[in-house]
Amino acid sequence: MSNTQTIQWFPGHMAKTRRKISEQLKLIDAVAEIVDARIPVSSRNPELKEIIGDKPHLILLNKCDMADDVATKQWIEYYKSQGIYAIPVDCKNGKGIPAFKDTVKTVLAKKLEQYRAKGMVGKPLRVMVVGIPNVGKSSFINRIAGGGRAKVENRPGVTRGNQWFTVDKELELLDTPGVLWPKFDDNTVGEHLAFTGAVTDRIIDIELLAMRLLELLIPLYPQLLNDRYKISEFPDDAYDALCLLGKKRGMMIRGGETDTERAAAMLLEEYRNCKIGKITLERVEL
Ligand code: G4P
Repeated sequence: MSNTQTIQWFPGHMAKTRRKISEQLKLIDAVAEIVDARIPVSSRNPELKEIIGDKPHLILLNKCDMADDVATKQWIEYYKSQGIYAIPVDCKNGKGIPAFKDTVKTVLAKKLEQYRAKGMVGKPLRVMVVGIPNVGKSSFINRIAGGGRAKVENRPGVTRGNQWFTVDKELELLDTPGVLWPKFDDNTVGEHLAFTGAVTDRIIDIELLAMRLLELLIPLYPQLLNDRYKISEFPDDAYDALCLLGKKRGMMIRGGETDTERAAAMLLEEYRNCKIGKITLERVEL
């Protein structure tokens, strides 16, 4: 990934999104942040916490169908220790979606109590759904609200440009106003997003990317690698490890060398499509 390019466009875009989110904060009760359960650190926007301030906040660990269940539980415990409610969701199959509304109500229990005390019953809770591109925001909104746009109403701040969705009479969602970028200027973040396919790898050296992925997978998931590729011990050097992988799959070129580009593409494809197994690359530091 080109850092130069990143540095040029990141701040401008973020400033606009930051302003748009800040403007909408007064209209909402809580922020639901969607993260990718496979990379819960890299799939977050580094400035979000500062932008939303003390607005109640919950986290949806999405794509948990592809993440390591044990690691997902550890992340949920970790967020809990930070005072943040988090739930695992799988927007592909709809798992975890029904728990969302109850979690919102739990997060907003105090506010609901205040509404009740003031006799304000029937006021829908409004939640802003935020997340970096590709994390599954549209999939989530489609799942929970059936994709149905809320009608444009004569309500302050609810303008045509805003993406409001009605879940039911108790809950309304607002899609991220603007684009919330990840921390692109961090190389590790860029790599981790590229592993999952969240950013295009057309401009990335895929052999290097596959080597970096292997460096993470070998210590974390030796059994899954052995099950899939029948390699019980990898060489220490990542390039040699990639060669061995290719050799195991018969990816040879003339002269008896391994076609490392094919091997790299194969590894990335199999990781992204969960063929190696349910994998979480970023762990809570225990
Ligand atoms: P965004 O609005 O945040 O940009 O993300 P979007 O919902 O478009 O989701 C990005 C990709 O992630 C989509 O795949 C979507 O199907 C997939 N996805 C979202 N949630 C989940 C999940 O919980 N599990 C899995 N396995 N995948 C999920 P795509 O390849 O871009 O499109 P398609 O496969 O749906 O055609």
